[in-house]
Amino acid sequence: MVPASASIGHQISLQVALRRLSAIKAYSGSFPSSSLSLSTKGTKMSTPSENRQPAPWRDILDSHLQQTPGYEFTIATIGYDAQQRPVPRVRTCGCRGFFPELELHPKGQEAMDQQVEGGGNPPVFESDMLSFTTDARMDKLPQLESSGHAIEAVFWLKDLMTQWRIKGTAYAIGNPSGEDAEEEKISRNEIRKALRVRGDNDSDIAKWTWEKAVTKYFANHSPVARGSFRNPHPGQPRSSTPNQLDLKLGQKVLDLHDSVARENFRVVVIRPEEVERLDLTDQEDAKRWNWTLIDGNDGSRWNEVELWP
Ligand SMILES: Cc1cc2nc3c(=O)[nH]c(=O)nc-3n(C[C@H](O)[C@H](O)[C@H](O)COP(=O)(O)O)c2cc1C
Repeated sequence: MVPASASIGHQISLQVALRRLSAIKAYSGSFPSSSLSLSTKGTKMSTPSENRQPAPWRDILDSHLQQTPGYEFTIATIGYDAQQRPVPRVRTCGCRGFFPELELHPKGQEAMDQQVEGGGNPPVFESDMLSFTTDARMDKLPQLESSGHAIEAVFWLKDLMTQWRIKGTAYAIGNPSGEDAEEEKISRNEIRKALRVRGDNDSDIAKWTWEKAVTKYFANHSPVARGSFRNPHPGQPRSSTPNQLDLKLGQKVLDLHDSVARENFRVVVIRPEEVERLDLTDQEDAKRWNWTLIDGNDGSRWNEVELWP
């Protein structure tokens, strides 16, 4: 079992209590991006910011994705060539929706019910952050780390004649060492800042853990797809023999805590800063909207501008 010790629940409960005790400023349609900081067990942890509304583009994108079964997006990161010049790198990835609200297929939920305490996390959080999964051995994670986490994702939803571009920063979670790994700690802190508490679920927050959140994404893969995280090192010459006997193609993984696969499995969470929708439904009157996250003294808010296409 993955230890549940790294729960953010108690920190968030404190934050919720603080939120209730203090007079909350009402932000109409605004997004405070600043987060409270609480000192817990000597570690200064940031917690989800309070009183945020969903981004104005979120429901539209969500509805477009709901209408597009099996959607992939193109993920761009920045790499460096042999002369250390920045170079764009793009690849296709399967979008896994808004973190952490993954809807599991029945077999995945069955595995969670059997292998994870409580069958997984209570549905206490939502966000405007899109997610995908990856193998820590691939190039995109070091590229994120060496470029200030810069990322852009693009969807071309042909049935809707719409392109969506989401620019921001991205953070990977799922390191089995938890917050002992510096990158994992940074990622959790950055993601936490943009989580929203759903409705009035405060009593369940203490049960929420990062480990269960990541395990749910792992459960959402078929046994063969989970097995791909036990493949030989992605991107290495096929002629090179893996030095670990566990690493071979075509394995099926039923154990959600399989230590070899979980060593490599990561969930990447994109924190959007700029979003653009291009609607080509009417080619004579194409439409283009841009939303930019603007930081202010009392938090941040999305600025919407309609652009010439
Ligand atoms: C349809 C499709 C879906 C894919 N989904 C993912 C995915 O969800 N995550 C991922 O890391 N790679 C995915 N890949 C593979 C990537 O495109 C890419 O080959 C791999 O991530 C290695 O890229 P990197 O070394 O630049 O990180 C997918 C490829 C295709 C064609």
